[in-house]
Amino acid sequence: MVTNEFWLERWRTGRIGFHRDEVNPWLVQYWPSLARGAKVLVPLCGKSSDLLWLANQGYEVTGVELSSLAVVQFFGDNDLTYSTQQDGDLKIHSADGLPLKIVEGDFFQFHEGGFDACYDRAALIAIPDYLRQEYVEHLMQRLIPSAHLLLVTLSYDGESSGPPFSVPDEEVVSLWGNTIHKVASEDLLQLDERYQSDSRTFYEEIVWRINP
Ligand SMILES: C[S@@+](CC[C@H](N)C(=O)[O-])C[C@H]1O[C@@H](n2cnc3c(N)ncnc32)[C@H](O)[C@@H]1O
Repeated sequence: MVTNEFWLERWRTGRIGFHRDEVNPWLVQYWPSLARGAKVLVPLCGKSSDLLWLANQGYEVTGVELSSLAVVQFFGDNDLTYSTQQDGDLKIHSADGLPLKIVEGDFFQFHEGGFDACYDRAALIAIPDYLRQEYVEHLMQRLIPSAHLLLVTLSYDGESSGPPFSVPDEEVVSLWGNTIHKVASEDLLQLDERYQSDSRTFYEEIVWRINP
């Protein structure tokens, strides 16, 4: 069962195979050109370097993450100092000298709105199927109607004991509506043996965009 405790335990025991030290190449290639100061939301952000890349483009970046360990490691790994404010059940950690904050807490308790864009890498696919609709609705309510979205999902066959979960294309379109478009995909099966299993014939990473 993928509960909040499941994720906190993953961070406590260092089982964070989803983390990449380098900036995600899909982000660099497919992020839309937005005005400096645009508000960008990164749900379920972990300690992703992508937060820093977005902040360095001049956007006002907000990550949301359950684990305090992820937050501390993000600021520590990037030699950033920060200040913290409590806001109800959430803790807001704001970087010094950068337009970047990480909200520590449950994404479903995060209610700020008015975001111009969203970057979701390994967030939708971390959510079990019965919660995905609620996740997307909650996320959409945080965004302005004309918001941009860059979404990276996975689709695979064979055994699954996710996360990461396989989210079929039809489900992505049904969740986000028909303004979402696939812009790239890559089968990772031959590239990395970690994804291989006897019953698997594909393990595809897919990049989606909504461009209003
Ligand atoms: C698969 S990881 C992806 C992290 C990040 N997006 C990346 O690309 O490295 C999912 C992250 O979501 C966090 N998470 C899971 N459920 C959450 C929730 N309800 N609210 C906030 N964060 C959550 C986990 O702690 C974990 O760091």
